[in-house]
Amino acid sequence: MAKLVIEGGNRLRGKVNISGFKNAALAILPATILTGDNCIIENLPMIQDVFVYRDILLKLGADVSISDSGLMNVDTSKIEKCFIPNGLTKKLRASYYLLGAGLGRFKDVTISYPGGCDIGLRPIDQHIKGLEALGGTFEVKDDVIRVSAKKLKGNKIYLDVVSVGATINIMMAAVFAEGKTVIENAAKEPHVVDTANFLNAMGASIRGAGTDVIRITGVEKLHGGEYSVIPDQIEAGTYMIAAAVTKGDLIINNIIPKHLEPVTAKLKEMGMNIEEYGDSLRVHYEKELVPVNIKTLPYPGFPTDLQQPMTVLLAMTKGDSIVIESIFENRFKYIDELVKMGARIKVENRAAAIKGVEKLNATEVKATDLRAGAAMVVACLAAEGVSTVNDIYHIDRGYEFIENKFMNLGAKIRRVEDEDQQI
Ligand code: EPZ
Repeated sequence: MAKLVIEGGNRLRGKVNISGFKNAALAILPATILTGDNCIIENLPMIQDVFVYRDILLKLGADVSISDSGLMNVDTSKIEKCFIPNGLTKKLRASYYLLGAGLGRFKDVTISYPGGCDIGLRPIDQHIKGLEALGGTFEVKDDVIRVSAKKLKGNKIYLDVVSVGATINIMMAAVFAEGKTVIENAAKEPHVVDTANFLNAMGASIRGAGTDVIRITGVEKLHGGEYSVIPDQIEAGTYMIAAAVTKGDLIINNIIPKHLEPVTAKLKEMGMNIEEYGDSLRVHYEKELVPVNIKTLPYPGFPTDLQQPMTVLLAMTKGDSIVIESIFENRFKYIDELVKMGARIKVENRAAAIKGVEKLNATEVKATDLRAGAAMVVACLAAEGVSTVNDIYHIDRGYEFIENKFMNLGAKIRRVEDEDQQI
Protein backbone atom coordinates (compact mmCIF):
# COMPACT_ATOMS: atom_id res chain seq x y z
CA MET A 1 0.00 0.00 0.00
CA ALA A 2 1.19 3.52 -0.74
CA LYS A 3 2.79 5.63 1.95
CA LEU A 4 4.40 9.04 2.19
CA VAL A 5 8.01 9.29 3.27
CA ILE A 6 8.81 12.73 4.62
CA GLU A 7 12.11 14.24 5.73
CA GLY A 8 10.90 17.00 8.02
CA GLY A 9 12.45 20.15 9.36
CA ASN A 10 12.30 22.37 6.28
CA ARG A 11 10.58 25.74 6.28
CA LEU A 12 7.90 25.80 3.60
CA ARG A 13 8.19 28.68 1.17
CA GLY A 14 6.47 29.56 -2.10
CA LYS A 15 3.06 29.60 -3.72
CA VAL A 16 0.37 26.95 -3.71
CA ASN A 17 -2.79 26.82 -5.82
CA ILE A 18 -5.86 25.57 -3.99
CA SER A 19 -8.10 23.05 -5.76
CA GLY A 20 -11.89 22.96 -6.01
CA PHE A 21 -13.75 22.18 -2.79
CA LYS A 22 -14.24 18.44 -2.27
CA ASN A 23 -17.38 18.81 -0.19
CA ALA A 24 -19.02 21.19 -2.68
CA ALA A 25 -18.06 18.99 -5.62
CA LEU A 26 -19.56 15.96 -3.88
CA ALA A 27 -22.91 17.75 -3.56
CA ILE A 28 -22.93 19.34 -7.02
CA LEU A 29 -22.18 16.08 -8.86
CA PRO A 30 -25.29 14.30 -7.52
CA ALA A 31 -27.29 17.51 -8.03
CA THR A 32 -26.69 17.13 -11.78
CA ILE A 33 -29.16 14.22 -11.63
CA LEU A 34 -31.91 16.76 -10.94
CA THR A 35 -31.27 18.57 -14.22
CA GLY A 36 -31.73 15.50 -16.42
CA ASP A 37 -29.65 17.47 -18.88
CA ASN A 38 -26.02 18.16 -19.80
CA CYS A 39 -23.86 19.95 -17.22
CA ILE A 40 -20.26 21.04 -17.39
CA ILE A 41 -18.71 21.22 -13.95
CA GLU A 42 -15.36 22.99 -13.69
CA ASN A 43 -12.69 23.24 -11.00
CA LEU A 44 -13.30 19.73 -9.68
CA PRO A 45 -10.45 18.42 -7.53
CA MET A 46 -8.77 15.31 -8.95
CA ILE A 47 -9.32 13.21 -5.83
CA GLN A 48 -10.57 9.69 -5.18
CA ASP A 49 -13.98 10.79 -3.86
CA VAL A 50 -14.69 12.65 -7.11
CA PHE A 51 -13.68 9.55 -9.08
CA VAL A 52 -16.05 7.45 -6.96
CA TYR A 53 -18.88 9.89 -7.76
CA ARG A 54 -18.02 9.67 -11.44
CA ASP A 55 -18.34 5.87 -11.10
CA ILE A 56 -21.69 6.23 -9.31
CA LEU A 57 -23.03 8.50 -12.06
CA LEU A 58 -21.80 6.08 -14.72
CA LYS A 59 -23.39 3.15 -12.90
CA LEU A 60 -26.69 5.03 -12.82
CA GLY A 61 -26.51 5.42 -16.59
CA ALA A 62 -25.15 8.96 -17.04
CA ASP A 63 -22.68 9.86 -19.78
CA VAL A 64 -19.61 11.20 -17.99
CA SER A 65 -16.22 12.36 -19.15
CA ILE A 66 -13.59 14.09 -17.07
CA SER A 67 -10.46 15.96 -18.15
CA ASP A 68 -7.15 16.12 -16.25
CA SER A 69 -7.84 19.79 -15.54
CA GLY A 70 -10.92 18.99 -13.45
CA LEU A 71 -13.67 19.61 -15.99
CA MET A 72 -16.48 17.07 -16.01
CA ASN A 73 -19.13 16.73 -18.64
CA VAL A 74 -22.16 14.99 -17.14
CA ASP A 75 -25.25 14.16 -19.11
CA THR A 76 -27.86 12.67 -16.78
CA SER A 77 -30.66 12.53 -19.38
CA LYS A 78 -30.34 8.77 -19.87
CA ILE A 79 -30.63 7.86 -16.17
CA GLU A 80 -33.92 6.03 -15.75
CA LYS A 81 -33.88 5.25 -12.04
CA CYS A 82 -31.78 5.80 -8.95
CA PHE A 83 -31.20 2.21 -7.86
CA ILE A 84 -27.70 1.38 -6.68
CA PRO A 85 -27.70 -1.00 -3.71
CA ASN A 86 -24.40 -2.64 -4.73
CA GLY A 87 -22.09 -1.17 -2.12
CA LEU A 88 -20.53 1.52 -4.36
CA THR A 89 -22.23 4.18 -2.25
CA LYS A 90 -20.46 2.84 0.85
CA LYS A 91 -17.18 4.22 -0.44
CA LEU A 92 -18.04 7.76 0.64
CA ARG A 93 -20.32 9.75 2.89
CA ALA A 94 -21.63 12.11 0.24
CA SER A 95 -23.52 9.28 -1.47
CA TYR A 96 -26.35 10.30 0.90
CA TYR A 97 -27.05 13.14 -1.56
CA LEU A 98 -28.47 10.53 -3.94
CA LEU A 99 -31.41 10.33 -1.52
CA GLY A 100 -32.42 13.97 -2.05
CA ALA A 101 -31.43 14.24 -5.71
CA GLY A 102 -32.93 10.86 -6.69
CA LEU A 103 -36.12 11.50 -4.74
CA GLY A 104 -36.45 14.89 -6.42
CA ARG A 105 -36.16 13.53 -9.95
CA PHE A 106 -37.46 9.93 -9.77
CA LYS A 107 -39.50 9.91 -6.52
CA ASP A 108 -37.79 6.61 -5.70
CA VAL A 109 -34.20 5.89 -4.60
CA THR A 110 -32.41 2.80 -3.32
CA ILE A 111 -28.80 2.95 -2.13
CA SER A 112 -26.47 1.09 0.22
CA TYR A 113 -25.89 2.92 3.50
CA PRO A 114 -23.30 5.71 2.96
CA GLY A 115 -19.75 5.17 4.25
CA GLY A 116 -17.07 7.83 4.81
CA CYS A 117 -14.59 8.66 7.57
CA ASP A 118 -15.01 6.84 10.87
CA ILE A 119 -15.29 9.89 13.13
CA GLY A 120 -18.42 9.14 15.12
CA LEU A 121 -21.92 7.74 14.78
CA ARG A 122 -22.95 10.05 11.93
CA PRO A 123 -26.71 9.35 11.99
CA ILE A 124 -28.91 10.51 9.10
CA ASP A 125 -32.09 11.05 11.14
CA GLN A 126 -32.29 14.72 10.08
CA HIS A 127 -32.06 13.77 6.39
CA ILE A 128 -34.88 11.28 6.97
CA LYS A 129 -36.97 13.77 8.94
CA GLY A 130 -36.60 16.40 6.21
CA LEU A 131 -37.34 14.10 3.27
CA GLU A 132 -40.29 12.56 5.10
CA ALA A 133 -41.69 16.03 5.70
CA LEU A 134 -41.67 16.52 1.92
CA GLY A 135 -43.63 13.28 1.41
CA GLY A 136 -40.91 10.61 1.32
CA THR A 137 -41.37 7.18 2.91
CA PHE A 138 -38.25 5.38 4.14
CA GLU A 139 -37.57 1.66 4.32
CA VAL A 140 -34.24 0.66 5.84
CA LYS A 141 -33.35 -3.02 5.64
CA ASP A 142 -29.95 -4.42 6.52
CA ASP A 143 -27.60 -2.01 4.81
CA VAL A 144 -29.96 -0.71 2.15
CA ILE A 145 -32.04 2.47 2.28
CA ARG A 146 -35.04 3.12 0.06
CA VAL A 147 -36.98 6.36 -0.01
CA SER A 148 -39.97 6.88 -2.26
CA ALA A 149 -42.86 9.31 -2.62
CA LYS A 150 -46.02 9.55 -4.68
CA LYS A 151 -45.42 13.27 -4.92
CA LEU A 152 -43.35 15.84 -3.06
CA LYS A 153 -44.99 18.74 -1.32
CA GLY A 154 -43.21 21.72 0.27
CA ASN A 155 -43.15 21.93 4.07
CA LYS A 156 -41.53 23.76 6.98
CA ILE A 157 -38.63 21.77 8.42
CA TYR A 158 -36.72 22.63 11.59
CA LEU A 159 -33.41 20.79 11.88
CA ASP A 160 -32.68 19.57 15.43
CA VAL A 161 -28.95 19.76 14.74
CA VAL A 162 -27.16 21.98 12.25
CA SER A 163 -26.34 19.47 9.54
CA VAL A 164 -24.63 20.27 6.26
CA GLY A 165 -25.70 16.99 4.69
CA ALA A 166 -29.33 17.21 5.77
CA THR A 167 -29.61 20.86 4.66
CA ILE A 168 -28.29 20.10 1.17
CA ASN A 169 -30.30 16.89 0.82
CA ILE A 170 -33.58 18.59 1.73
CA MET A 171 -32.75 21.51 -0.56
CA MET A 172 -32.22 19.11 -3.47
CA ALA A 173 -35.51 17.24 -3.04
CA ALA A 174 -37.42 20.47 -2.36
CA VAL A 175 -36.40 21.89 -5.74
CA PHE A 176 -39.18 19.75 -7.25
CA ALA A 177 -41.61 19.78 -4.28
CA GLU A 178 -44.88 21.54 -4.97
CA GLY A 179 -45.11 24.93 -3.29
CA LYS A 180 -42.73 26.34 -0.68
CA THR A 181 -40.24 24.60 1.59
CA VAL A 182 -38.58 26.39 4.50
CA ILE A 183 -35.52 24.88 6.23
CA GLU A 184 -34.92 26.40 9.65
CA ASN A 185 -31.70 26.04 11.62
CA ALA A 186 -30.04 25.29 8.28
CA ALA A 187 -26.28 24.86 7.91
CA LYS A 188 -24.50 27.96 6.56
CA GLU A 189 -21.32 26.31 5.22
CA PRO A 190 -19.88 27.61 1.93
CA HIS A 191 -20.77 24.35 0.17
CA VAL A 192 -24.45 24.77 1.11
CA VAL A 193 -24.29 28.12 -0.68
CA ASP A 194 -22.33 26.69 -3.62
CA THR A 195 -24.86 23.90 -4.14
CA ALA A 196 -27.75 26.38 -3.95
CA ASN A 197 -25.96 28.63 -6.46
CA PHE A 198 -25.50 25.69 -8.81
CA LEU A 199 -29.17 24.69 -8.55
CA ASN A 200 -30.32 28.30 -9.02
CA ALA A 201 -28.08 28.65 -12.07
CA MET A 202 -29.91 25.60 -13.49
CA GLY A 203 -33.34 27.16 -12.84
CA ALA A 204 -34.16 26.40 -9.18
CA SER A 205 -35.58 28.98 -6.81
CA ILE A 206 -33.61 28.84 -3.54
CA ARG A 207 -33.26 31.90 -1.32
CA GLY A 208 -31.38 32.40 1.92
CA ALA A 209 -28.55 29.84 1.49
CA GLY A 210 -25.75 31.00 3.80
CA THR A 211 -28.25 32.05 6.48
CA ASP A 212 -30.03 29.74 8.89
CA VAL A 213 -33.36 29.98 7.04
CA ILE A 214 -33.49 28.68 3.47
CA ARG A 215 -36.61 29.09 1.34
CA ILE A 216 -37.19 26.96 -1.71
CA THR A 217 -40.04 27.33 -4.18
CA GLY A 218 -40.63 24.21 -6.22
CA VAL A 219 -40.14 24.40 -9.99
CA GLU A 220 -41.17 22.02 -12.79
CA LYS A 221 -37.81 21.48 -14.39
CA LEU A 222 -34.12 22.34 -14.24
CA HIS A 223 -31.92 22.82 -17.26
CA GLY A 224 -28.25 22.05 -17.78
CA GLY A 225 -25.38 24.52 -17.94
CA GLU A 226 -21.87 25.30 -16.77
CA TYR A 227 -20.71 25.80 -13.21
CA SER A 228 -17.38 26.21 -11.45
CA VAL A 229 -16.88 24.75 -7.94
CA ILE A 230 -15.61 27.10 -5.20
CA PRO A 231 -12.07 26.69 -3.81
CA ASP A 232 -11.48 24.24 -0.97
CA GLN A 233 -11.16 26.22 2.25
CA ILE A 234 -10.17 23.10 4.16
CA GLU A 235 -7.27 22.38 1.83
CA ALA A 236 -6.29 26.08 2.03
CA GLY A 237 -6.47 25.99 5.84
CA THR A 238 -4.27 22.89 5.88
CA TYR A 239 -1.54 24.73 3.93
CA MET A 240 -1.90 27.81 6.16
CA ILE A 241 -1.37 25.65 9.24
CA ALA A 242 1.53 23.85 7.54
CA ALA A 243 3.14 27.28 7.05
CA ALA A 244 2.82 27.96 10.78
CA VAL A 245 4.07 24.52 11.84
CA THR A 246 7.19 24.77 9.66
CA LYS A 247 7.81 28.47 10.45
CA GLY A 248 7.38 29.12 6.75
CA ASP A 249 6.14 31.78 4.34
CA LEU A 250 3.41 30.82 1.87
CA ILE A 251 1.19 32.51 -0.68
CA ILE A 252 -2.09 30.61 -0.88
CA ASN A 253 -3.70 31.24 -4.27
CA ASN A 254 -7.21 30.65 -5.63
CA ILE A 255 -9.15 31.05 -2.39
CA ILE A 256 -12.07 33.01 -1.00
CA PRO A 257 -10.46 34.69 2.05
CA LYS A 258 -13.84 35.17 3.74
CA HIS A 259 -14.33 31.38 3.96
CA LEU A 260 -11.03 31.17 5.85
CA GLU A 261 -11.82 33.79 8.49
CA PRO A 262 -12.13 31.34 11.42
CA VAL A 263 -8.66 29.94 10.64
CA THR A 264 -7.10 33.29 9.83
CA ALA A 265 -8.39 34.73 13.12
CA LYS A 266 -6.91 31.89 15.21
CA LEU A 267 -3.56 31.90 13.43
CA LYS A 268 -3.31 35.68 13.86
CA GLU A 269 -4.18 35.29 17.55
CA MET A 270 -1.25 32.87 17.79
CA GLY A 271 1.09 35.44 16.23
CA MET A 272 1.22 34.45 12.54
CA ASN A 273 1.30 37.25 9.98
CA ILE A 274 -1.49 37.03 7.45
CA GLU A 275 -2.11 39.46 4.62
CA GLU A 276 -5.26 39.04 2.56
CA TYR A 277 -5.59 39.94 -1.10
CA GLY A 278 -8.54 39.50 -3.50
CA ASP A 279 -8.32 35.74 -4.07
CA SER A 280 -5.12 34.87 -2.21
CA LEU A 281 -3.35 35.41 1.06
CA ARG A 282 0.18 35.39 2.43
CA VAL A 283 0.80 33.58 5.68
CA HIS A 284 4.24 33.94 7.24
CA TYR A 285 6.00 33.18 10.49
CA GLU A 286 7.94 35.94 12.21
CA LYS A 287 7.91 35.34 15.93
CA GLU A 288 7.35 32.60 18.48
CA LEU A 289 3.68 31.56 18.53
CA VAL A 290 1.47 31.57 21.60
CA PRO A 291 -1.14 28.89 22.39
CA VAL A 292 -4.88 29.41 21.86
CA ASN A 293 -7.98 27.40 22.70
CA ILE A 294 -10.16 26.02 19.93
CA LYS A 295 -13.74 24.84 19.84
CA THR A 296 -15.06 23.41 16.60
CA LEU A 297 -18.45 24.77 15.55
CA PRO A 298 -20.67 24.93 12.48
CA TYR A 299 -19.67 27.65 9.99
CA PRO A 300 -18.66 30.43 10.58
CA GLY A 301 -17.09 28.79 13.65
CA PHE A 302 -13.77 26.97 13.59
CA PRO A 303 -14.19 24.00 11.19
CA THR A 304 -14.04 20.46 12.56
CA ASP A 305 -12.19 19.49 9.38
CA LEU A 306 -9.20 21.61 10.48
CA GLN A 307 -9.24 20.53 14.11
CA GLN A 308 -6.58 17.87 13.47
CA PRO A 309 -3.88 19.97 11.73
CA MET A 310 -4.55 22.77 14.23
CA THR A 311 -3.94 20.34 17.09
CA VAL A 312 -0.56 19.49 15.53
CA LEU A 313 0.34 23.19 15.57
CA LEU A 314 -0.75 23.60 19.19
CA ALA A 315 1.15 20.44 20.14
CA MET A 316 4.32 22.26 18.99
CA THR A 317 3.47 25.63 20.54
CA LYS A 318 4.99 26.34 23.96
CA GLY A 319 2.29 26.54 26.66
CA ASP A 320 -1.08 24.96 27.38
CA SER A 321 -4.12 24.82 25.14
CA ILE A 322 -7.47 23.06 24.93
CA VAL A 323 -9.19 21.80 21.80
CA ILE A 324 -12.88 20.95 22.04
CA GLU A 325 -14.46 18.92 19.25
CA SER A 326 -18.15 19.74 19.40
CA ILE A 327 -19.27 18.39 16.00
CA PHE A 328 -18.17 14.73 15.88
CA GLU A 329 -17.85 12.54 18.96
CA ASN A 330 -14.87 10.48 17.79
CA ARG A 331 -12.51 12.77 15.94
CA PHE A 332 -9.44 12.42 18.19
CA LYS A 333 -8.29 8.96 17.09
CA TYR A 334 -5.14 10.37 15.51
CA ILE A 335 -3.89 11.73 18.84
CA ASP A 336 -2.28 8.35 19.63
CA GLU A 337 -0.17 8.82 16.50
CA LEU A 338 0.85 12.33 17.57
CA VAL A 339 1.75 11.06 21.03
CA LYS A 340 4.03 8.52 19.33
CA MET A 341 5.84 11.53 17.85
CA GLY A 342 6.37 13.01 21.31
CA ALA A 343 3.28 15.24 21.64
CA ARG A 344 1.90 15.71 25.16
CA ILE A 345 -1.87 15.50 24.78
CA LYS A 346 -4.54 14.04 27.02
CA VAL A 347 -8.00 13.40 25.62
CA GLU A 348 -11.09 13.22 27.71
CA ASN A 349 -14.38 12.81 25.87
CA ARG A 350 -14.51 15.69 23.42
CA ALA A 351 -11.63 17.74 24.87
CA ALA A 352 -7.91 17.48 24.22
CA ALA A 353 -5.59 19.13 26.75
CA ILE A 354 -2.29 19.98 25.10
CA LYS A 355 1.07 20.85 26.63
CA GLY A 356 3.17 22.22 23.81
CA VAL A 357 6.56 20.57 23.19
CA GLU A 358 9.51 22.13 21.38
CA LYS A 359 9.68 19.51 18.66
CA LEU A 360 8.08 16.33 17.43
CA ASN A 361 10.15 13.23 16.68
CA ALA A 362 10.18 11.63 13.26
CA THR A 363 8.64 8.17 13.27
CA GLU A 364 6.18 5.87 11.50
CA VAL A 365 2.54 6.95 11.80
CA LYS A 366 -0.71 6.22 10.01
CA ALA A 367 -3.63 8.21 8.65
CA THR A 368 -6.67 7.17 10.69
CA ASP A 369 -9.02 9.18 8.43
CA LEU A 370 -8.83 11.91 5.78
CA ARG A 371 -8.16 15.03 7.86
CA ALA A 372 -6.16 13.07 10.44
CA GLY A 373 -3.98 11.95 7.53
CA ALA A 374 -3.39 15.56 6.48
CA ALA A 375 -2.52 16.36 10.09
CA MET A 376 0.05 13.56 10.12
CA VAL A 377 1.67 14.96 6.99
CA VAL A 378 1.81 18.41 8.59
CA ALA A 379 3.34 16.92 11.77
CA CYS A 380 5.95 14.97 9.79
CA LEU A 381 6.89 18.08 7.79
CA ALA A 382 7.88 19.71 11.07
CA ALA A 383 9.53 16.71 12.78
CA GLU A 384 13.27 16.58 12.15
CA GLY A 385 14.31 13.30 10.53
CA VAL A 386 12.56 10.83 8.26
CA SER A 387 8.96 9.85 9.00
CA THR A 388 6.51 7.61 7.21
CA VAL A 389 2.76 8.15 6.93
CA ASN A 390 0.92 4.89 6.21
CA ASP A 391 -2.65 4.30 5.00
CA ILE A 392 -2.57 7.38 2.80
CA TYR A 393 -5.55 6.15 0.79
CA HIS A 394 -7.54 8.22 3.29
CA ILE A 395 -5.62 11.36 2.24
CA ASP A 396 -6.06 10.59 -1.46
CA ARG A 397 -9.81 10.75 -0.98
CA GLY A 398 -9.64 14.49 -0.40
CA TYR A 399 -6.28 16.19 -1.13
CA GLU A 400 -5.24 16.72 -4.73
CA PHE A 401 -1.55 16.04 -5.53
CA ILE A 402 -0.60 16.53 -1.88
CA GLU A 403 3.01 15.42 -2.20
CA ASN A 404 3.60 17.48 -5.36
CA LYS A 405 2.12 20.59 -3.80
CA PHE A 406 4.26 20.25 -0.67
CA MET A 407 7.34 19.37 -2.74
CA ASN A 408 6.91 22.61 -4.71
CA LEU A 409 7.00 24.44 -1.38
CA GLY A 410 10.38 22.94 -0.48
CA ALA A 411 9.24 19.88 1.46
CA LYS A 412 11.15 16.62 1.11
CA ILE A 413 8.27 14.27 0.59
CA ARG A 414 7.64 11.37 -1.70
CA ARG A 415 5.13 8.63 -2.27
CA VAL A 416 6.36 5.06 -2.21
CA GLU A 417 4.33 2.05 -3.22
CA ASP A 418 6.69 -0.55 -1.73
CA GLU A 419 9.26 -1.02 1.02
CA ASP A 420 11.82 1.34 -0.57
CA GLN A 421 11.79 4.32 1.79
CA GLN A 422 14.80 6.29 0.54
CA ILE A 423 14.23 10.00 -0.02
C1 EPZ B 1 -20.11 17.20 6.23
O1 EPZ B 1 -20.42 15.97 6.85
C2 EPZ B 1 -18.76 17.03 5.59
N1 EPZ B 1 -18.82 15.95 4.63
C3 EPZ B 1 -17.71 16.74 6.66
O2 EPZ B 1 -16.45 16.69 6.06
C4 EPZ B 1 -17.71 17.89 7.67
O3 EPZ B 1 -16.84 17.55 8.73
C5 EPZ B 1 -19.12 18.09 8.23
O4 EPZ B 1 -20.07 18.28 7.15
C6 EPZ B 1 -19.23 19.30 9.16
O5 EPZ B 1 -18.81 20.45 8.49
C7 EPZ B 1 -19.26 16.17 3.42
O6 EPZ B 1 -19.62 17.28 3.05
C8 EPZ B 1 -19.28 15.01 2.49
P1 EPZ B 1 -23.20 17.13 9.34
P2 EPZ B 1 -21.88 15.64 7.34
O7 EPZ B 1 -24.42 16.48 8.87
O8 EPZ B 1 -22.85 16.17 6.35
C9 EPZ B 1 -24.95 15.25 13.39
C10 EPZ B 1 -14.32 15.77 5.60
O9 EPZ B 1 -13.33 15.39 6.23
N2 EPZ B 1 -26.05 14.76 12.55
O10 EPZ B 1 -23.07 18.61 9.23
O11 EPZ B 1 -21.92 14.18 7.64
C11 EPZ B 1 -23.63 14.57 13.03
O12 EPZ B 1 -23.50 13.33 13.67
C12 EPZ B 1 -15.71 15.45 6.09
O13 EPZ B 1 -14.25 16.40 4.52
C13 EPZ B 1 -27.14 14.16 13.17
O14 EPZ B 1 -27.18 14.00 14.39
O15 EPZ B 1 -21.93 16.47 8.66
C14 EPZ B 1 -22.64 15.61 13.49
O16 EPZ B 1 -22.47 15.49 14.88
C15 EPZ B 1 -15.72 14.69 7.37
N3 EPZ B 1 -28.17 13.72 12.38
C16 EPZ B 1 -23.34 16.93 13.20
O17 EPZ B 1 -24.73 16.61 13.09
C17 EPZ B 1 -28.15 13.88 11.03
O18 EPZ B 1 -29.12 13.47 10.38
C18 EPZ B 1 -22.92 17.63 11.92
O19 EPZ B 1 -22.97 16.69 10.85
C19 EPZ B 1 -27.07 14.51 10.42
C20 EPZ B 1 -26.01 14.95 11.21
